Amino acid sequence: MNQQKNKLPSVEMHHYGKLADGSEVTLATLRNANGIELDIISYGGIITRMIVPDARGRMGDIVLGLDTLEAYVTSNPYFGALIGRYGNRIANGRFTLDGKTYQLASNDGENHLHGGVQGFDKKNWGMAPYVTDHSAAVVMTLTSPDGDQGYPGKLDTRVTYELTNDNELDMHFSATTDKATIVNLTQHSYFNLAGSGDILGHELMIDAEHFTPVGKGLIPTGELRPVADTPFDFRQAKPIGKDILADDEQLKLGLGFDHNFVLKDAADEELALAARVTEPTTGRVLEVLTVEPGVQFYSGNFLDGTLTGKGMTYQHRSGFCLEPQHFPDSPNQAGFPSAALRPGETYSTRIVYRFSTTR
Ligand code: BGC
Repeated sequence: MNQQKNKLPSVEMHHYGKLADGSEVTLATLRNANGIELDIISYGGIITRMIVPDARGRMGDIVLGLDTLEAYVTSNPYFGALIGRYGNRIANGRFTLDGKTYQLASNDGENHLHGGVQGFDKKNWGMAPYVTDHSAAVVMTLTSPDGDQGYPGKLDTRVTYELTNDNELDMHFSATTDKATIVNLTQHSYFNLAGSGDILGHELMIDAEHFTPVGKGLIPTGELRPVADTPFDFRQAKPIGKDILADDEQLKLGLGFDHNFVLKDAADEELALAARVTEPTTGRVLEVLTVEPGVQFYSGNFLDGTLTGKGMTYQHRSGFCLEPQHFPDSPNQAGFPSAALRPGETYSTRIVYRFSTTR
């Protein structure tokens, strides 16, 4: 990492591949002055590589990823992707807004997950690079037509991925619509701060007093349940594996942790630390900051050794996700912060991944 010091931030654009319809997929490599490197492809806005130092300065890749565009198109469980229009689940793919009921595409049993059959993770985004004196960035743009996956309104979406010399990936999301609709965008990187193995020894802190318990199909019941005296208490950092096998109904329903944690009762503009993950063998630390009211913690329960990438097979719990978001199924839960967006308003959110080490 030392030899990289004092270099200026940069963005390099490359050809990555071609989709079946002939459209070009571009790859951007962002570098900051400290040698941190990110690869992002226009398809799905997917972060395919994230190279950060460990406590001894050794660089390593901390995200799960696949090896080819074809693999991303056919079998990506949302590795690294931008998620929209609605991150997480909507019960029966149905919601009512301003007196009108909409039926969305169902792609998770009868429920709608992460934007449907062709969510934003499967669209080829516009991607434009820019560099400032302290950062390397790309602006991602996507127009989703009225009726896309069943959603009302034409949605114009913009996401900025800005890698700063403060070792942060600062992500700004915005969207506007021409009809009343719902929006809940997020980023779906799967992390493994050791670079391989399972994530059970990673130590996790989530700054949440409550979580939203689920019923069948991982749809929230509407309750905000205190984490105190449950396996969901991450207010003091503990290894992800510590309580994951506890005899607990919620862990059984999720097949592990796959739950929304409540960061705030109502949405506001304040950027706050949602979670901190420390990997003891490498000393790598990831902090996730957001303005969102919730964060989904998913412990990689559905990884089962069938996917390969980067010379590895992705075994059970070989990666975890922390997805800042509005709560799952908010459009059907009057007690949850609203995910509605109307013409004339601008949806806006922010997520920061902050990279550091323990020493
Ligand atoms: C969800 C999981 C889902 C996974 C798909 C996560 O955001 O919480 O339930 O299986 O995405 O990869």
